Amino acid sequence: MCLKSSLDSIDCRDLLLSLTNDKLYLVMDKDEFPEIVFKKNPEVSIKINTVEDLACAKKTVEDFFYKKNWNKNKIFDIIISVSEAVSNVLKHAQKGDMNIYYDNDSAYIFVSDRGEGIDLEDIPRLIQKGESSKSSLGMGFSIILELASAVWIHTNSNGTILIMLIEKH
Ligand SMILES: Nc1ncnc2c1ncn2[C@@H]1O[C@H](COP(=O)(O)OP(=O)(O)OP(=O)(O)O)[C@@H](O)[C@H]1O
Ligand SMILES: [Mg+2]
Repeated sequence: MCLKSSLDSIDCRDLLLSLTNDKLYLVMDKDEFPEIVFKKNPEVSIKINTVEDLACAKKTVEDFFYKKNWNKNKIFDIIISVSEAVSNVLKHAQKGDMNIYYDNDSAYIFVSDRGEGIDLEDIPRLIQKGESSKSSLGMGFSIILELASAVWIHTNSNGTILIMLIEKH
């Protein structure tokens, strides 16, 4: 039970950190997002409404990181991570946005939607391999957590924001 009181939400945060080797931060207050999203403008901004936008996001990401001289394997990791996060928007929330903030060889990929969000008490289960609320593989979160250096999630009945940090080196 994570939603019932602020104390429970603190327990839930600790649980998520320990389940993910300190990678997944549950953000209760948007002030806790990485500073870059407040300080800089995104270098890439894409609306996500249809599967064509998923293809566009993947191609845009590939071109963007190629120009920044990232190696092929890292670019592949980013395409996979973006693909999972954007697919979640289309599958579980219908529409949203993807922005990329970039600084000092670090990319912060920001994916947001205005869907129904995820119940906090369900997150520890839903980040595990094979857990899905739809008839899907339930692999998205575990893939993202494998490939990103850090992940922030903020979710409530107004929508979900996922930020993935991927570093060049
Ligand atoms: N943006 C979102 N809005 C609401 N719920 C979400 C969102 N992203 C993920 N979820 C919830 O988390 C669950 C796990 O997501 P995950 O990406 O790991 O698996 P999946 O999307 O169900 O399957 P797969 O990614 O393998 O196709 C989803 O089934 C859904 O219940
Ligand atoms: Mg998914």
